[in-house]
Amino acid sequence: MNNPNRLPNTVLPSRYTLEIWPDLEGSSFEGSVAIQVDLTQRCSQIVLNALDLTIHSAWIGLGGTDEHNRIPATATFDPELERVTLSVDQELPAGSATLHLRYTGIYNAQLVGFYKSTFTRTDDDGSTEHTLAVTQFESTHARRCFPCFDEPAFKAVFSITLTVPEDVLAISNSAEVLREDLDGGLARITFADTMVMSTYLVALVIGPLEQTPPRMVAGMNGPIPLRVIYPPGSAHLCEFALEVAEAALKFFEGFYEIAYPGDKVDLVAVPDFAFGAMENLGCITFREVLLLIDPETATQPELHRVADVINHELAHMWFGDLVTMEWWNGIWLNEAFATFMEVSATDAFRPDWQVWTSFGLARAAAFDTDALQSTRPIEFDVQSPAEAEAMFDILTYQKGASVVRMLEQYLGGEVFRSGITAYLQQHACAVTETADLWDALEAVSGEPVRRIMESWIFRGGHPLVTVESTETGLRLRQERFSYQAEPLKEDGSSEVAPWPTPMLISTKTVAEGPSTEHRILLEHAQEIDLGGPAVEVQANPGGNGFFRVNLTGSLRTALATDPTASSIEFFVLLDDTWAGFLANQVSVEELEDLLRVLCESEADPAVWRRISGVLSGLQRLGGAGRASRNRALIQELCSQRLAGLEEVMQAPQVDSDAMRERAEELRGVLFALLGGVGQDAEVRVRARNLWQLKTIDPSLREAAIEVLAASATVDEHAKLEQAWRESSTPQEELCFLSALIETDNPEQFAYVLELALTEVRTQNAPFLLRRAISHNDLGDQGWDFVSSHWSELVEKFPSSSLPRMLEGIRSIDDQARAERVAAFLAETKIPAGELVVQQHLERMWVSVEVAERLRA
Ligand code: BES
Ligand code: ZN
Repeated sequence: MNNPNRLPNTVLPSRYTLEIWPDLEGSSFEGSVAIQVDLTQRCSQIVLNALDLTIHSAWIGLGGTDEHNRIPATATFDPELERVTLSVDQELPAGSATLHLRYTGIYNAQLVGFYKSTFTRTDDDGSTEHTLAVTQFESTHARRCFPCFDEPAFKAVFSITLTVPEDVLAISNSAEVLREDLDGGLARITFADTMVMSTYLVALVIGPLEQTPPRMVAGMNGPIPLRVIYPPGSAHLCEFALEVAEAALKFFEGFYEIAYPGDKVDLVAVPDFAFGAMENLGCITFREVLLLIDPETATQPELHRVADVINHELAHMWFGDLVTMEWWNGIWLNEAFATFMEVSATDAFRPDWQVWTSFGLARAAAFDTDALQSTRPIEFDVQSPAEAEAMFDILTYQKGASVVRMLEQYLGGEVFRSGITAYLQQHACAVTETADLWDALEAVSGEPVRRIMESWIFRGGHPLVTVESTETGLRLRQERFSYQAEPLKEDGSSEVAPWPTPMLISTKTVAEGPSTEHRILLEHAQEIDLGGPAVEVQANPGGNGFFRVNLTGSLRTALATDPTASSIEFFVLLDDTWAGFLANQVSVEELEDLLRVLCESEADPAVWRRISGVLSGLQRLGGAGRASRNRALIQELCSQRLAGLEEVMQAPQVDSDAMRERAEELRGVLFALLGGVGQDAEVRVRARNLWQLKTIDPSLREAAIEVLAASATVDEHAKLEQAWRESSTPQEELCFLSALIETDNPEQFAYVLELALTEVRTQNAPFLLRRAISHNDLGDQGWDFVSSHWSELVEKFPSSSLPRMLEGIRSIDDQARAERVAAFLAETKIPAGELVVQQHLERMWVSVEVAERLRA
């Protein structure tokens, strides 16, 4: 452990008594902290983390907090390593001691550490700005709020006290236990001791917010008070979150067989937020759009997203908060597992949403990055804070969750669950290494879990499994899947070691006959004897495997036309075929044939989103030369379908709500595709009439806004802008904001780009610019803006959002533009995102190459 970023483990904190005096009007705050530590050896210096803090006094008490035994200490900062060293002029004996520090901190401008967030209210004059102070500590920002041992392994109890104006809300991880009224309209609030936990999970929220009455959720150990905390004016947007969270708490207690580890749950909507949400124990913070929602006006994906995010963060209360990774290399497991659980919990909450099918979209995105040479292993060595932050990417979340799902399916749900329970029970209140989980699962299943998983997490990339029918059955072999040919090794070979690939294969030797299941761990090429040739093979049933499948001969068509295959299986078939097309292994004609078959039979909205993605991709990559042919294909595949669907939806017979919701969602997807890239004149006229109607179903309205935005007149664009300013829910606000940048008018486009640096919140602006960069016609202008304002963006935006903003370059397919982008990025340092940007660049070159091929 020779990492200069890590603190010595000779001083072990056990308890923090933290008091903070936030000043909502000023730019700084006062704090005091007493940290009980155990000195494992004699010393005269103690090192801990602190950043952007000024220490006014420091002393050390020995043998508890004895005031008479104050040993004054001097504090020396090391801003590079984000540390402070406390030195005393005598030797401290081993044993217990308490570090006492008084200090001043500054509110951070990039939405990490302790920072201020502002909002205006619709229910006062609408122009007064209100301020709250809030924390975001993961990964390594607690040190900006109080001096601490800021590593996940240093778990401790936190006793927190805040002195705040008496009329504002102040909350933290645990319940309020004492409130003292002070002079000058102030109140001093003390919160209950927390459980033993890591510093990155500490949270404070102070400001003029409101709260729902607590809902008492029946927990294993008694009622758990659950509240939503929100900016005034949003009281009517909280009910859905409460409903989801209540179900989730019960689901997780049942799944983990461990009581909720906190004493209450607050879900807090924060107007300015760098990430999506954060799992602070008992005080979970969210972007408003991911918590506050009106089920009547929101689209299905918006509702699913809110449920997913709440479930994700609640899953962390056990997996992450109760049991925590020893160091940041383990963050992938924390996030991958929470992502896996989020889908499981949402699936249990609303089985009719079929969220494992929508998860296909997330998995597809992970495949897309993992097919690059610049991919990385899921788990890797992390040294610095920047490297820790760089771990939060698609490979951690989506690939990580996919391999966890693959393992769960292979072991069986109940075996997997009981292994998780054993792991959490064994390590409650402590920290773990990734392998501890594999060992627990290995113990309950008897399968070589550690060997299987280590090969999936310590190596980048994934296999392509080729399936061939033979005289006697079928033959399987694997190689690494890659968009571009593998660079040869020094000895001229390109062999890569196989992945132990867990597969549940289903085969038929007679069309429409019975199928046989095979459970194998594929490594080297393998034959399966069926006593005759396979006529149909499902090599990835349920779509749960993280590998591509290449069905040779007539096997692809056999699967595509199998009426018993599920939506997710069709999804995966299409996604694998698209990947094969990008890798130049499948022709555009084969791809189009498959699209025709699937469009005919499929009604699942998630599959159609993928179809829509493929058709838009073809349109973009095909350029002007193929544009009319592509539009004709879109018309052919979608027009009839939309008309038919609308006819069915008019029919008086009452379908279930679930079926209606899905039909509405599908209609929205078809409408947006036809009116957007399809440029269907009739749909565009309808969009003009529909977008302002609040009485139509939300997915159609959203589609209409999107369609209108692409060809809005000056007047219409102004109306969209006004609608953005006056929007009544966070979802609507985002919908109109994204619509504004879809314009095809360069002047309006420039106007919206300016907004991104002025009026648009810094939490949303990077996403707006990402869309600007990948704009079909005006992407050049978008890129010019981003590159010429680069230093301003770096200063303003949360640093974690820059790599996400640059995602927009992946779809650039014009050689000259790609060269300009590559030249700029070669000279630009992007801390905490170097590798992700490399991946965006490589993916951009894949787009250029495919476009060239398709246009030739
Ligand atoms: N722990 C993360 C939040 C986080 C991410 C903190 C990166 C610091 C750096 C949280 O649990 C999370 O995963 N949030 C997601 C949303 C989630 C539903 C996928 C996010 O913020 O994007
Ligand atoms: Zn998470």
